[in-house]
Amino acid sequence: MSTKAVLITGANGEIGHGLVSRLTEKNPEINIVAIDVHPLSKTLQDQCHEVIVGDIMDSSLLDRLAAFYDFETIYHLAAILSTKAEREPVLGHRINVDGTLGLLELAARQARATGENVKFLFPSSIAAYGLPNVAVKMKAGKVKENEWLDARTMYGINKKYCEDLGRYYNWYYRQLDPQQTTAHVDFRGIRFPGLISAVTLPTGGTSDYGPEMMHYAAQGKVYDCFVPESATLPFMVMPDAINALLKLEATPAKNLTQVVYNIGAFSVSAKDFYDVIKKAFPSAHVNFKPDVLRQKIVDSWPADVDDSLARKEWGWSHEFDFKRAFDEYLIPAVKNRYGK
Ligand code: SER
Repeated sequence: MSTKAVLITGANGEIGHGLVSRLTEKNPEINIVAIDVHPLSKTLQDQCHEVIVGDIMDSSLLDRLAAFYDFETIYHLAAILSTKAEREPVLGHRINVDGTLGLLELAARQARATGENVKFLFPSSIAAYGLPNVAVKMKAGKVKENEWLDARTMYGINKKYCEDLGRYYNWYYRQLDPQQTTAHVDFRGIRFPGLISAVTLPTGGTSDYGPEMMHYAAQGKVYDCFVPESATLPFMVMPDAINALLKLEATPAKNLTQVVYNIGAFSVSAKDFYDVIKKAFPSAHVNFKPDVLRQKIVDSWPADVDDSLARKEWGWSHEFDFKRAFDEYLIPAVKNRYGK
């Protein structure tokens, strides 16, 4: 008999780190199967039923998993972020799109075999949006899910397309088959803002200047910030991002009218970050040295998002506003991490 389990791809990444711990805290009996191309830290390994150092593009690996497990939920977190995908667009497309397609097929196969829906939680991004310039962006304010969808980066285009794939697998998969299956992939996506964790640093993203500024300051290192002081994006701390994934996962499907939702917490400029960091680490030093090409990507992402649908349909609400995020989570945790 197959073991019931939860699959997490990209488990060693920023979201994965927080998610594994929260899932085992909630349910110590949970069977987590974790995949990552990099080995997981020892503490995470101990919380998982099986850990696989491997590539989501390895179809024989996915076949083996399908044979041994019944996945009730898949958190598909593995991705190449925006800056890295811009430097290696074909690799970005391969991992972000082909990789997601392989996982959706695995989920569909499992739903067919077990007759139970398989929940598929997918982190999408504010990169799915594309505003033409900074003036339009600042005027647009909080954008809704169906506005400004001309993404400009390979990563953003990949995420948007995977949202569409999710919609397809959810509602129209194999719609011409004479025998329709009863169970399906229950795809649920969240367009995350820039995420900030006190425990890990992002790799290869464009919103990375926020978290990098803080981690550099805590280590007493000078930070060259690649956007100007005025650059503004929505951000959120990792505990809220994990809460959102768990909350959306737990929501009855009948409450959900969409396959993807915005969520927001606070919208701040690079200067706002610097001001709060400087207060906590008075010796922090940031040189604002905009890289105009990376800045253009930030300029094409919304300054803020309208998350009223998530609030209404699945009760989303953030716990950490900007002040609380720094006072109660980020500053104490990074001080502790770097022994300050
Ligand atoms: N944080 C991501 C990036 O910068 C966007 O979702 O690529």
